[in-house]
Amino acid sequence: MGDAQTEDEAAAELERLAREIARHNRLYHGEDAPEISDADYDALVRRNAALERDFPHLVREDSPSRQVGAAPEGPLAKVAHALPMLSLDNAFADEEVAEFVARVRRFLKLSEDEEVALTAEPKIDGLSCSLRYEKGVLVLAATRGDGSVGEDVTPNARTIADIPERLRGEAPAVFEIRGEVYMSKADFAALNARQAEAGGKIFANPRNAAAGSLRQKDPAITAARPLRFYAHGWGEATAVPGDTQLAVMRSIEAWGVPVSADLERFTDLGPLLAFYRGIEAKRADLGFDIDGVVYKVDRLDWQRRLGQVARAPRWALAHKFPAERAETILEAIDIQVGRTGKLTPVARLTPVSVGGVTVTNATLHNADEIARLGVRVGDRVLIQRAGDVIPQVLENLTPGADRAPYIFPARCPQCDSEAVREEGEVDIRCTGGLICPAQRVERLRHFVSRHALDIEGLGIVHIESFFRDGLLQSPADIFRLTKAQLLGRERWAEVSAANLIAAIDSKRRPPLDRFLYALGIRHVGEVTARDLARRYRSWAGLEAMVDAALAVRAGLQPALGEDERKFALRRDKAVAAAIETPNIGPEVGNAILDFFEETHNREVLQDLFAAGVAPQDVVWETKASPVSGKTLVFTGSLETLSRDEAKAQAEKLGAKVAGSVSAKTDLVIAGPGAGSKLKKAQDLGVAVIDEAAWNALVAEAG
Ligand code: IVH
Repeated sequence: MGDAQTEDEAAAELERLAREIARHNRLYHGEDAPEISDADYDALVRRNAALERDFPHLVREDSPSRQVGAAPEGPLAKVAHALPMLSLDNAFADEEVAEFVARVRRFLKLSEDEEVALTAEPKIDGLSCSLRYEKGVLVLAATRGDGSVGEDVTPNARTIADIPERLRGEAPAVFEIRGEVYMSKADFAALNARQAEAGGKIFANPRNAAAGSLRQKDPAITAARPLRFYAHGWGEATAVPGDTQLAVMRSIEAWGVPVSADLERFTDLGPLLAFYRGIEAKRADLGFDIDGVVYKVDRLDWQRRLGQVARAPRWALAHKFPAERAETILEAIDIQVGRTGKLTPVARLTPVSVGGVTVTNATLHNADEIARLGVRVGDRVLIQRAGDVIPQVLENLTPGADRAPYIFPARCPQCDSEAVREEGEVDIRCTGGLICPAQRVERLRHFVSRHALDIEGLGIVHIESFFRDGLLQSPADIFRLTKAQLLGRERWAEVSAANLIAAIDSKRRPPLDRFLYALGIRHVGEVTARDLARRYRSWAGLEAMVDAALAVRAGLQPALGEDERKFALRRDKAVAAAIETPNIGPEVGNAILDFFEETHNREVLQDLFAAGVAPQDVVWETKASPVSGKTLVFTGSLETLSRDEAKAQAEKLGAKVAGSVSAKTDLVIAGPGAGSKLKKAQDLGVAVIDEAAWNALVAEAG
């Protein structure tokens, strides 16, 4: 920082400090992405104070010493999407594209001579946005958010020239156009140059610039930024102008909304892959960033049948461009401790630019991977970065160098508990459980993360600092935080403290599935959490099931002469049966029961409820249908449907699909060739229908 000698130098330094501190305030409070440590920040503030003491007449209007804190960017209003905004499954290799087409064929049970047409267009690297038109007039623009709830950016979207206020010609009563807001590479470079001159924020890439420009409180700022839009699909619609993806995209184009100039339709894999190669070849000349090609099944009736799994449709695929690679030096190997105690080695690298992004860390996955690569600190390594995934170390370019081999720690670097590798597992885990601070912090972080409780403004930096100071020990503490406590801390001002408390308060009634996911039960991801929530519908319902299942599991004893393996199989079967939820087998079932068996976890839950957290009962309607809540069994061969599609249909109608017939079975759908299951159903007096009757039932319920 250097000692300012003259007044001029002092004035210049004060100006720089004002700008720099304001920037760090914004990064810390507004974006939750600080670039410097608390100690470095304090040093800047102290330096500013010292200069002001020496040169009192130079104290600036905008001096950090005069500010109460950062003015955080007020959050934009939230809007729930009428239909979720989905993401895409990725593929890298040609074979994966072929497999996608084969999967579509299998699911739809298409005959060999039936043609599967796909549309193809570039996958643009922007941020998705849903534009709702009512009677052809733009009424709402929303960002994707978490896919279910986004942010209202309507006034901002109105400033984008590509987004018409009114659709040309005849448009349906309601039609949501979905697409991508982006910035061209040239506009991005010019914007950054202007920002640099004005001392404003420099954006890392066009995507960030587009996001930062669209998600503004002040539409005047958006208006001054050169944003563009192109449509790639649609959401809620009272009428759809066509039977194919391509026809509807052409209608959207005719309404005056841009679509990709490279949108085409293919019926054969060869030309489709040639198109992909062609787009890849002209990638650099496109003027905007793309990261692959998106394929979509053209027929809309097939899209509807294919439906979606988790967050991605079965009828679309993103064929990404190959990852970008670079060479650098492995400077150190650090060990990170995850939520479940997993120790992950992380490569600290000499910073290197990979496809325009500076990479300083890469994952080394586990001890086996380190052994496979044979890496030692000091080695030259090849790294690769693909899309949003964490960079990886691909290869050691200086194997066998005369350096000390890396020894994986035998104890947790955070809590010094023993680190063990369970039989048959690749991961090494800290055995410290909740005495391990890293595991506790990671659990808290997971609890508030975007797909869990989604508490905005409570980022890892705050969690770590609150944890360190004893303010946050367990999830319930979050709900006991007060504004006064925050204001008592450095760098918290009235507005930011009030915002965080409000954000926390708004999450006291989380949807049951999010709450379950937030608990961080091993193997319980978002999809499993949703399956459980859908099945049990309330916390009380779920807990009753868990207690009953725990009793069942505890009561099981090996029968006389039964070997260990047989007993384990029997127990697994009993557990899965007791959990009684589609898609949840013994491994996940046991993990759920293990979680609830742990007294400490029950205490955490009781504590949360005592702090006023009450998960909401499930209100999503699985369609009322003649089979909702019923258990079905499909047997024999189906002619018009694949097993997967039949199962997806049944689940959509609220039914459970079982593999075998028992007294609990409500309905059997039997095709030609049905044998013992059909006979058993008949013996038990279970209702049996054929495939045609099933199709009629589905059509009626839909
Ligand atoms: S279709 C139902 N087409 O990529 C499928 N998405 O990684 C919805 N994206 O959230 C997306 N270009 O924001 C589609 N031509 C394109 C796209 C595209 C970019 C984005 C979109 C999506 C994300 C998924």
